[in-house]
Amino acid sequence: MNIGFLGCGNIAQAMIVGLLDSGLSPSSITVLTRNQKKKKFYKKNSIKRLAVNKANSTKFDFIFLCVKPADAKDAIEGSAINWGNANLVSVVAGISSQKLKIFANSDKVIRIMPTTSSEFGKSITAIFMEEEQKKQTKKLIPLLNKMGSTIELSSEKDLHEFTAVVGSGQAFIMEALKQYDEKLLKFSKNKNAASKNLAMFISSIAQHIELNNGIEPSIKKIMSPKGTTYSGLKALKKNKISSVFKSAFKAAEKRSKEIQNEY
Ligand SMILES: NC(=O)c1ccc[n+]([C@@H]2O[C@H](COP(=O)([O-])OP(=O)(O)OC[C@H]3O[C@@H](n4cnc5c(N)ncnc54)[C@H](OP(=O)(O)O)[C@@H]3O)[C@@H](O)[C@H]2O)c1
Repeated sequence: MNIGFLGCGNIAQAMIVGLLDSGLSPSSITVLTRNQKKKKFYKKNSIKRLAVNKANSTKFDFIFLCVKPADAKDAIEGSAINWGNANLVSVVAGISSQKLKIFANSDKVIRIMPTTSSEFGKSITAIFMEEEQKKQTKKLIPLLNKMGSTIELSSEKDLHEFTAVVGSGQAFIMEALKQYDEKLLKFSKNKNAASKNLAMFISSIAQHIELNNGIEPSIKKIMSPKGTTYSGLKALKKNKISSVFKSAFKAAEKRSKEIQNEY
């Protein structure tokens, strides 16, 4: 399989490292960049690099479009890629399939929404493709599963909400975790120890959820009737913790829809 990455920033690098770590051969990957800024990265990972304006010489199965929304049109139109041969797989938030098809002058367009957790095989990646592209599923989904798990969306519109909850959502939880960071710093020897304790604390939550098959059973294991956990949870509910998160989801979803109209 021949895979290209148009753009080699944060998400492209995370995906490339995830793919290589899961056993994909470096010879399957080419980065298509407009300059040599990321030379250290592609040298270190022994992957090929092609200048975007020389990309017509290679036949790709999939090219992951990994540029900012504002750069998507120029990156596609300014490259020498023969989009009729390659499937364009866009990770770009907010740019619709319809627009991507116009930019690439091709119908072979698929949208995905991965996270940078691809780097360590833990991305929950959403995929949306129109009926005609479904034949690509066989090759593409196993590739995406190398970086975590994949969820197929039946409506392109759902990508807005998915982006808000999963794409941006890790950062919302991190923001909330700052409260714990502060407290753990108070109880730990130093900042380094506090970070390690915080990481262990968070991974233990994931393990609880996995072992107990969900959040409610996990909470039940921690909470005793009328105990400290019970009181704390009551305070969180009284202060409408769910509304706080819902407002973040809503704001991010709204922004995703705005981006769609901007470009
Ligand atoms: N970061 C995430 O967590 C994440 C998750 C899911 C989806 N996404 C989506 O991924 C996209 C990229 O995000 P990012 O965080 O990876 O951004 P980034 O780190 O800024 O990387 C963007 C890359 O695009 C390249 N680029 C821009 N215009 C180009 C052009 N005309 N031709 C070739 N390359 C071009 C830039 O190259 P130069 O070095 O030459 O400037 C840069 O390396 C965004 O659309 C975002 O919606 C991001």
